[in-house]
Amino acid sequence: MFCCAFLVLFLALGNELHLSHATEVSVNNTENKLCLYANLMVNFSVTYEVGVNKSETALFVLPENVTTEGSTCNDTTSTLQLGFGDGHSWAVKFTKDTKTYQVDAIVFTYNLNDSSVFPNSTSNETKSVMVKPTITNVGVDTYYSCKSKVLLKVESVTQTLYDVALQAFVTNGSKSDTDTVCAADLPTTTVAPNTTVTTTAAPTSTPTPTLPTPTTGNYSIAPDFNSTACLMATFGLRIGYKQGDKVETINLVPNATNVGGACGVNSSDLILTSNTITIMFTFSNDSKMFHLHALNITVKPATGAPVVAANTNMSVWVAAVGSSYMCNKEQTLNVTDTLTLYTFALRVQPFGVKKGEFATAHECSLDDTSILIPIIVGAALACLILIVVIAYVIAVECFMDSDLSFLVPIAVGVALGFLIILVLISYLIGRRKSRTGYQSV
Ligand SMILES: *[C@@H]1O[C@H](CO)[C@@H](O)[C@H](O)[C@H]1NC(C)=O
Ligand SMILES: *[C@@H]1O[C@H](CO)[C@@H](O)[C@H](O)[C@H]1NC(C)=O
Ligand SMILES: *[C@@H]1O[C@H](CO)[C@@H](O)[C@H](O)[C@H]1NC(C)=O
Ligand SMILES: *[C@@H]1O[C@H](CO)[C@@H](O)[C@H](O)[C@H]1NC(C)=O
Ligand SMILES: *[C@@H]1O[C@H](CO)[C@@H](O)[C@H](O)[C@H]1NC(C)=O
Ligand SMILES: *[C@@H]1O[C@H](CO)[C@@H](O)[C@H](O)[C@H]1NC(C)=O
Ligand SMILES: *[C@@H]1O[C@H](CO)[C@@H](O)[C@H](O)[C@H]1NC(C)=O
Ligand SMILES: *[C@@H]1O[C@H](CO)[C@@H](O)[C@H](O)[C@H]1NC(C)=O
Ligand SMILES: *[C@@H]1O[C@H](CO)[C@@H](O)[C@H](O)[C@H]1NC(C)=O
Ligand SMILES: *[C@@H]1O[C@H](CO)[C@@H](O)[C@H](O)[C@H]1NC(C)=O
Ligand SMILES: *[C@@H]1O[C@H](CO)[C@@H](O)[C@H](O)[C@H]1NC(C)=O
Ligand SMILES: *[C@@H]1O[C@H](CO)[C@@H](O)[C@H](O)[C@H]1NC(C)=O
Repeated sequence: MFCCAFLVLFLALGNELHLSHATEVSVNNTENKLCLYANLMVNFSVTYEVGVNKSETALFVLPENVTTEGSTCNDTTSTLQLGFGDGHSWAVKFTKDTKTYQVDAIVFTYNLNDSSVFPNSTSNETKSVMVKPTITNVGVDTYYSCKSKVLLKVESVTQTLYDVALQAFVTNGSKSDTDTVCAADLPTTTVAPNTTVTTTAAPTSTPTPTLPTPTTGNYSIAPDFNSTACLMATFGLRIGYKQGDKVETINLVPNATNVGGACGVNSSDLILTSNTITIMFTFSNDSKMFHLHALNITVKPATGAPVVAANTNMSVWVAAVGSSYMCNKEQTLNVTDTLTLYTFALRVQPFGVKKGEFATAHECSLDDTSILIPIIVGAALACLILIVVIAYVIAVECFMDSDLSFLVPIAVGVALGFLIILVLISYLIGRRKSRTGYQSV
């Protein structure tokens, strides 16, 4: 049953030993048993407009004193809803399967009308941003523990989480003593992939077996917990960047990637953040068609300065609004002279997603023309060669002995003409097909 929770509000008891102000809360379920527990610190940095071309950045923390109204617990879904100040809130949604639970998303809502936090704001709106942190695979009946700082950036908002202890789906009404420690807190056993290359057959001298194909990740953004996705994307991603004279490559690891972003009417953003890569995709919507308009990428190599590349003048991944763009083949995007993006098994829909599903796909020319045309032309050629052979055999059989033997070359000529015409037609059909791929809905 859906239980609306009864909430207790703990004021951390001015413990002088704790330098800062952790926020500690507990949520009880309808049976008045503890079902959600949190003890954490969150710092917010919000950039907001104070005039034409002028912005300020507000820095504030999640206070000790919060309300938990709106928090809910049931067997598979729990929401921790912390309200604070004048209309601000910070909410975390958890879901559970049999052995583990995870955070699906965090929604931070801030009220620009609160002049104590946002002085001189030109807007008085309440805004929300959603992020999907990598708080996954937390063992049931354990709490998630992460002392390290985790930065979650979306648009003009940065949330820094640290000293986090979080337990959802508490069993038996008491907090667990066992924790699931986040990767960032684990002693640094290098996360580098085990590059034992298994050479099977004859050692072919391929000089480029650098990285495996990147894992395909599924990324989506929803405006709030109650809504289905408004932006969806799946792809594997590799980045090639120049460091000095050398070209390095790095893959994005989906299950170590925080997802953020926001859907707008004319523009939507997807922001992916891992320890080494931050990438922001900005999609534009000109009412009929959408395209990838801007990319802003930061790569933090193990050694050396971060590599930053931004291009705000792109026009790729074009498709009709209401459809999705797809490219299964590896696709190369030159972002700047020093940075190149490679995508694999790409499918994106930045606008008009319905029911959390991709709409009809418009395939990229790489997929379309390169596969369809050779198949069509090849099939047509095979057909026609067969026709010519048959025509020739018939001609020989029927007319060779008669006075009409002069017809044999004519028949062969006619068949050849046919062949050429059919090849042309099939070629044109192939061309048309690949072109309408971009135009029809
Ligand atoms: C738990 O709540 C969610 C929505 O909050 C609902 O979709 C789901 O069916 C509920 N599950 C159970 C077991 O009641
Ligand atoms: C919440 O539940 C715990 C036990 O799970 C209990 O000790 C505590 O008193 C409850 N809080 C309230 C406000 O009832
Ligand atoms: C969070 O903000 C507080 C107060 O501004 C500051 O003392 C603290 O160092 C910040 N913590 C982090 C991790 O940024
Ligand atoms: C605001 O910035 C834009 C672009 O940087 C500039 O074209 C415009 O003149 C600026 N407006 C004012 C009032 O400064
Ligand atoms: C906590 O918040 C409540 C309601 O907003 C308020 O009445 C109370 O004084 C606050 N306590 C502290 C210590 O700030
Ligand atoms: C807000 O604007 C007033 C005047 O318009 C100015 O005096 C004040 O310094 C501004 N405050 C901030 C925090 O920018
Ligand atoms: C927000 O601002 C608009 C105009 O700037 C004003 O009409 C409206 O009343 C304001 N709303 C609130 C809640 O202050
Ligand atoms: C890497 O491979 C070696 C040899 O195959 C193995 O002994 C080692 O445990 C592997 N390390 C990791 C982290 O998987
Ligand atoms: C989700 O929907 C419920 C009921 O429809 C509402 O009470 C709650 O505030 C909504 N939550 C958000 C984050 O919009
Ligand atoms: C991420 O995926 C890899 C394999 O794809 C797996 O070995 C690793 O344990 C996963 N990490 C997490 C934190 O789930
Ligand atoms: C790219 O992102 C960085 C870091 O967030 C920011 O400082 C920079 O202004 C961005 N560049 C563009 C062109 O948006
Ligand atoms: C990207 O740049 C490389 C080298 O500068 C060039 O060979 C390649 O054609 C470019 N690709 C695209 C799609 O522009």
